[in-house]
Amino acid sequence: MIDFNEVPKVAVDFMNEDHEEATHITNSLQTLVGAADNGEVNPQGISDTLEELLTHCREHFAREEAQMQKINFPPYHIHQSEHQRVLDEMTQVLENWRKHEEIATLKQYTLEILPEWFVSHIESMDSVTAMFIARAGGPFEL
Ligand SMILES: [Fe+2]
Ligand SMILES: [Fe+2]
Repeated sequence: MIDFNEVPKVAVDFMNEDHEEATHITNSLQTLVGAADNGEVNPQGISDTLEELLTHCREHFAREEAQMQKINFPPYHIHQSEHQRVLDEMTQVLENWRKHEEIATLKQYTLEILPEWFVSHIESMDSVTAMFIARAGGPFEL
């Protein structure tokens, strides 16, 4: 489980709010995946929650990208392409789950890869981006 109190906070609230929502959805997914250890696999619940996470991440990343473009953030493309890489990976995980329902791979993604990426992305790219947005007087109404 990700403890939101231990998730690093950035300089603008809209991003912290998105990070809180991402934390909740990831925790729901971890609970569903963890239940499989007791033989309680809920394939539809897992698919639905992965899809919810994907939808959330598309919107969350788009909100950050719109603000970066608004302030002409110089490393926009580095941050944007990292978002795209993660969306592609998440889409692949969802498709693989739907096809094969293979719990070990999903478990590794949900319990290790995703939460580790999430915290390190916030500590690095999101923190710097938020600082730039705040210094430029944002976030801006778009
Ligand atoms: Fe973010
Ligand atoms: Fe980001």
